[in-house]
Amino acid sequence: MALQVELIPTGEIIRVVHPHRPCKLALGSDGVRVTMESALTARDRVGVQDFVLLENFTSEAAFIENLRRRFRENLIYTYIGPVLVSVNPYRDLQIYTRQHMERYRGVSFYEVPPHLFAVADTVYRALRTERRDQAVMISGESGAGKTEATKRLLQFYAETCPAPERGGAVRDRLLQSNPVLEAFGNAKTLRNDNSSRFGKYMDVQFDFKGAPVGGHILSYLLEKSRVVHQNHGERNFHIFYQLLEGGEEETLRRLGLERNPQSYLYLVKGQCAKVSSINDKNDWKVVRKALTVINFTEDEVEDLLSIVASVLHLGNLHFAADEESNAQVTSENQFKYLTRLLGVDGSTFREALTHRKIIAKGEELLSPLNLEQAAYARDALAKAVYSRTFTWLVGKINRSLASKDAQSPSWRSTTVLGLLDIYGFEVFQHNSFEQFCINYCNEKLQQLFIELTLKSEQEEYEAEGIAWEPVQYFNNKIICDLVEEKFKGIISILDEECLRPGEATDLTFLEKLEDTIKHHPHFLTHKLADQRTRKSLGRGEFRLLHYAGEVTYSVTGFLDKNNDLLFRNLKETMCSSENPIMSQCFDRSELSDKKRPETVATQFKMSLLQLVEILQSKEPAYIRCIKPNDAKQPGRFDEVLIRHQVKYLGLMENLRVRRAGFAYRRKYEAFLQRYKSLCPETWPTWAGRPQDGVAVLVRHLGYKPEEYKMGRTKIFIRFPKTLFATEDALEVRRQSLATKIQASWRGFHWRQKFLRVKRSAICIQSWWRGTLGRRKAAKRKWAAQTIRRLIRGFILRHAPRCPENAFFLDHVRTSFLLNLRRQLPRNVLDTSWPIPPPALREASELLRELCMKNMVWKYCRSISPEWKQQLHQKAVASEIFKGKKDNYPQSVPRLFISTRLGADEISPKVLQALGTEPIQVRHRGWRHRRPRQLLLTPNAVVIVEDAKVKQRIDYTNLTGISVSSLSDSLFVLHVQREDNKQKGDVVLQSDSYSRRLFSADRVNNININQGSITYAGGPGRDGIIDFTPGSELLITKAKNGHLAVVAPRLNSR
Ligand SMILES: Nc1ncnc2c1ncn2[C@@H]1O[C@H](COP(=O)(O)OP(=O)(O)OP(=O)(O)O)[C@@H](O)[C@H]1O
Ligand SMILES: [Mg+2]
Repeated sequence: MALQVELIPTGEIIRVVHPHRPCKLALGSDGVRVTMESALTARDRVGVQDFVLLENFTSEAAFIENLRRRFRENLIYTYIGPVLVSVNPYRDLQIYTRQHMERYRGVSFYEVPPHLFAVADTVYRALRTERRDQAVMISGESGAGKTEATKRLLQFYAETCPAPERGGAVRDRLLQSNPVLEAFGNAKTLRNDNSSRFGKYMDVQFDFKGAPVGGHILSYLLEKSRVVHQNHGERNFHIFYQLLEGGEEETLRRLGLERNPQSYLYLVKGQCAKVSSINDKNDWKVVRKALTVINFTEDEVEDLLSIVASVLHLGNLHFAADEESNAQVTSENQFKYLTRLLGVDGSTFREALTHRKIIAKGEELLSPLNLEQAAYARDALAKAVYSRTFTWLVGKINRSLASKDAQSPSWRSTTVLGLLDIYGFEVFQHNSFEQFCINYCNEKLQQLFIELTLKSEQEEYEAEGIAWEPVQYFNNKIICDLVEEKFKGIISILDEECLRPGEATDLTFLEKLEDTIKHHPHFLTHKLADQRTRKSLGRGEFRLLHYAGEVTYSVTGFLDKNNDLLFRNLKETMCSSENPIMSQCFDRSELSDKKRPETVATQFKMSLLQLVEILQSKEPAYIRCIKPNDAKQPGRFDEVLIRHQVKYLGLMENLRVRRAGFAYRRKYEAFLQRYKSLCPETWPTWAGRPQDGVAVLVRHLGYKPEEYKMGRTKIFIRFPKTLFATEDALEVRRQSLATKIQASWRGFHWRQKFLRVKRSAICIQSWWRGTLGRRKAAKRKWAAQTIRRLIRGFILRHAPRCPENAFFLDHVRTSFLLNLRRQLPRNVLDTSWPIPPPALREASELLRELCMKNMVWKYCRSISPEWKQQLHQKAVASEIFKGKKDNYPQSVPRLFISTRLGADEISPKVLQALGTEPIQVRHRGWRHRRPRQLLLTPNAVVIVEDAKVKQRIDYTNLTGISVSSLSDSLFVLHVQREDNKQKGDVVLQSDSYSRRLFSADRVNNININQGSITYAGGPGRDGIIDFTPGSELLITKAKNGHLAVVAPRLNSR
């Protein structure tokens, strides 16, 4: 399977994981993290991830080329050492997801590709582990992405930091303060559709567990002139448009506003109320929700919106000149709304708008204003109202962000992380007082940046015991001094001009400048310039040579803006406002304060000094934002614009400082860990100190003494090429190592598997053997015990039942019973039965009986009626003949033949005779022996001869039958002697007489005679038959007149 890797926009190389085949190596859900140093191998493709590794580090072209190559690949972040350079991509790169946050959490700064979150995490970890306050300074020109970066940082902290034990809402408030501040302090400019028109420094407080517990915002110099005037293509602050677009009908009605921004003069100056990239309606919803989150009550929102509306009404307030050219308010409707919304007295307000109160020699004088002055006063009021409301808003947000635990002892252990999102260096066609202040601010920050960078660099060298080599860089202190120096600085001169009595104008200020600082190398005016340069300078302009380039400022408005004049009576009116926000914004103490308020420039200077102090007290981190083009287009890299920013952001300077000594530095442990495979002595493990290991390693690698230095904890490599050569060697080494590791791993893996299987087999075998052995032993033991018990039982078998013989006796019984089951008699005639043990004799007998009964019952059940008849007859025959007649046993197996004849089987003549008259039988003596048929009818015995009925004996007359006990076949039917119709007894010979007669069941008297039978041969003539046993049947007439019958003796007898 091929290893698929992908370069994602952050410059990270990730392993593509098959959706259906989870990759076990993946650290995050989507891939394997490849360290930044590993990514150095891809440097040809995406430039260098750290400018410090640029071979030609003094070349601006090489610097920009590296930026371009990376930008083309959507790699917007690059380091200069610890400084992050970010290029605005103007498109959503999907690099700020939760996954990215996780990827950058808790990893070393250099182990991951450059990213904003890497800086955020490093700063946070330093804050937690070293417990030192941190400051992230984000700088860059308008539209470079400072505010975006600040928001992403806040989002990172809000999502990845642990939640505080109490006051979890702080996180939401920190996040939600942004949309509110942006609505009131941001506006669309030509450079940025969401340009911050104020400087912002935000402190986030973390408790000792690293949870955000509070925050504080400092704002700097809101560009309030925007309230009354916007350049073409620009807008006023977002909040005005948001309110008009998104505000509910009812709200607008109450505020006296129309939904159309075109109706308001303060909103139409730039002629672009609608911007495609801005959705005011949606933004309004976000702001309204955010206001609730940051603790605004409904009343406060109402008051705030009243002020916003009043600014719009002020813009529409018109004046007309009366006969004396004094201004009079003409827009009564607007005026009416204004008094209501601002909560001021109508007449006082009217007077304040059209008059100026002057206090001269303790006396108050009212001087009417002309049209121009009235308009000026109105605009000044609008600006003052708006800017003070903005300041109040920041205060209000701060109150909601303030930690509730500020008094608790744990509060002292909180640490602070500052985020500075301040306006970048600005150069316009026409630069005024605001640009002067902004650029001065940037000079200060640049100075701080250089100082701190150099300082940290120097500190590191000192800490590592490496000789500090002076770095050549431009120190802009000279420009800062030019602006801020006491008495001689531009701000001092401006203040002086503002305060001095007499006719001071912008031009007199310029002259004063020319007089005072004409020799300064960074200052130039039309008058001071040489012939050639003079052409590029107007008479009312001065030029400063900032560290970032030349900027020409027009002095027009400098005095005015610096003075920030608001007429006293307007202030008084506002101080008496019933709008709670206004009354807080305009404090009465201001009126009684005899001291002149500080000028705007001085205030700004002071606040900057304060800011520098704050920043100096913290550990700094830098994010330098670059804007790639003016068209706000993704993918466009405008080289001229970028070169300009690289210059004024001092990035080359920064790089030079960083590279002044060494291009690359790394802790010994990390360096050794990475490159130890390149030296046989350090591979695979180095037992000694890492520093010694590194020394051995670099010697083996052939580093020349000028190429590197060994510090206390780090190695410093002077040239990138040395590092790259080492990296290339590592790459080659890795290939062979990978093969070796794979081979050993496979061997190890399979051997482990084999050993596991072997162990398992042995285990199973021994277990099974054990089981078998145990089973056998148990069986033997059981057998021995059984035998012993049997023998013992056998010995004591005759003794009464006791434990010793119980088993034996039971065994004998059960085995008898079990055997009995197999040895039961098969049929009723089978008399066999096993011999029972003495104890079971009775039971055996009962069982035998039961068995027999059962067999008999079964046998009986299976007998057919015919068979039953047979048996019945057999039983009768048995009763009669058994043991008495010799040939009885021979007759037993022969079945009785059915004696019933059908009518067709009997001669019709016989039938006729039977049906009509009685038959007479005549005894004819034994000599006339003839075959006859003996018929048994229901009522009589009939003897038939040749279809003639010879004799009929009614059963009632049949007195008995006599037979001998021998095996002859003679029998005598005895007839009643009284019956005269009869001829006497009948002697018959038939093998089956008994069956014939007895089956008819008509004879109750059968005699079995021994020796002889006497019969009646007719009236008065009795005969005797003598029976003797002999060898064969012989019937003869004996001499004594008896019938002598010799009957064969049968064996069975
Ligand atoms: N990292 C980024 N990813 C995507 N888009 C960005 C990024 N940074 C900036 N942008 C785009 O650029 C615009 C301008 O950025 P931003 O408002 O942060 O500039 P800024 O430096 O604060 O400017 P200003 O000084 O005027 O306030 C943003 O509205 C956004 O559209
Ligand atoms: Mg901004």
